[in-house]
Amino acid sequence: MKSFVVVVVVMLASTAAVDSKVLRSWRPVKNVDDPLMKFLGNFAVKEDDRLTGMKLTFEKIVQAEYRSGGNGYKYHLILSANDGFTSNMYAANVSVTWKLNAFGAFHA
Ligand SMILES: *[C@@H]1O[C@H](CO)[C@@H](O)[C@H](O)[C@H]1NC(C)=O
Repeated sequence: MKSFVVVVVVMLASTAAVDSKVLRSWRPVKNVDDPLMKFLGNFAVKEDDRLTGMKLTFEKIVQAEYRSGGNGYKYHLILSANDGFTSNMYAANVSVTWKLNAFGAFHA
């Protein structure tokens, strides 16, 4: 009886460990042409231009993965951008926090 209890506890512990690992893992973004992905890629390039003084132009998302974290989502992006002469690939990490401030019926 005592050993049965121990076995159950160990199984629960290992299931929990697997679940939290799955929940925390990165998932691929299936449609990299999704408007939100383009928005994030463009944001990343614009923000980098602003911070560094570079003049890159976002072209497209090549690969992306995401995971939930905190209030929103985190994204790892591989994107292509043009420096005015050539297209190059860049990596960017972006966090997105969504926050609804108000929602209600609208009466005109
Ligand atoms: C993005 O995050 C990953 C994992 O934390 C890291 O390995 C990678 O270097 C980061 N990319 C950039 C451009 O800093």
